[in-house]
Amino acid sequence: MQKEKRHSPMVKAVIQQLQQDVANHLTKLIEERPTEARLKEAMLYAVQSGGKRIRPLLTLAVGSAGTSTNKAALDLACALEMIHTYSLIHDDLPGMDDDDMRRGRPTVHKAFDEATAILAGDALLTLAFEVAANANLEARQLVEAVKILSSASGMSGMISGQMKDIASEEVTITLERMKEIHREKTGELLLAAVRLGNLFVDDAKMKEAFVSYATHFGLAFQIQNDLQDVCWTSEQTGKETGKDSELSKNTYPSLLGVEGAKEALSTEIAFCKNALDGVDFTLENEQTKALLIEFLTYLEI
Ligand code: IPE
Ligand code: IPE
Ligand code: MG
Ligand code: MG
Repeated sequence: MQKEKRHSPMVKAVIQQLQQDVANHLTKLIEERPTEARLKEAMLYAVQSGGKRIRPLLTLAVGSAGTSTNKAALDLACALEMIHTYSLIHDDLPGMDDDDMRRGRPTVHKAFDEATAILAGDALLTLAFEVAANANLEARQLVEAVKILSSASGMSGMISGQMKDIASEEVTITLERMKEIHREKTGELLLAAVRLGNLFVDDAKMKEAFVSYATHFGLAFQIQNDLQDVCWTSEQTGKETGKDSELSKNTYPSLLGVEGAKEALSTEIAFCKNALDGVDFTLENEQTKALLIEFLTYLEI
């Protein structure tokens, strides 16, 4: 069982509903397309294995005041979750982190085989852009959505961070370099989540506050991921733990120690709260605020 997070009952119900909406929509988007049976099975296995769905939740919280009645926001949210899922399938491959467990189940290359895992990842990445391009939005918004998704996931975003993460195994790097890796490999997709949501927001100050929240959330999220690898059990994470030191990865705990990493995490969480404090939330977007505050519980260690 992965670690249960505490949520206030009403917000918890909203989060569960949104997670269910995302899961159902992901399944539908894959099911309705013709493809080779084993490939479809692997894609469904990957997207149906749970996970927190924090990226689509962020898009929906920002983009539709916490409801999934905004169908275009749901399409973009699912497109982003497909990119995230592909990044995890490839991250777990033997040539990368070589992990056997993810979300409490065998990784895709273990449940299927390496070739299928590579292709399922490729297919999720390309399907993401097909889904985004088909979202019911104005042409201007569509182009913006594709730009957000491609730059966050591409050679100057997540993939750059993944390359730097691999390249810095067994060498010691500075904290500044570490931050840059975390921002790229993890922060960029979390920031993209909010940027996609912002396509549905008019207020410029509010958009800016959401971007600031997501920027700090992204760094905090990877610091917490590093800490989980040291402090949590594999029952809590659904993944094998202790892997970072096994692979001589640079992490916040390896550079700052566990206590130093926890302090850095608290600082980033405080920045997230500050960003929200600067926003004049109205009755209309009260739920957005409640969700964004609730998401900070995902960062607890
Ligand atoms: C794990 O992401 C990898 C990182 C980018 C830190 P998540 O912690 O969001 O993974 P799931 O989707 O909940 O399994
Ligand atoms: C994963 O980072 C980041 C991406 C897949 C982009 P990690 O390798 O640190 O995350 P886990 O521990 O496998 O989830
Ligand atoms: Mg990795
Ligand atoms: Mg990994």
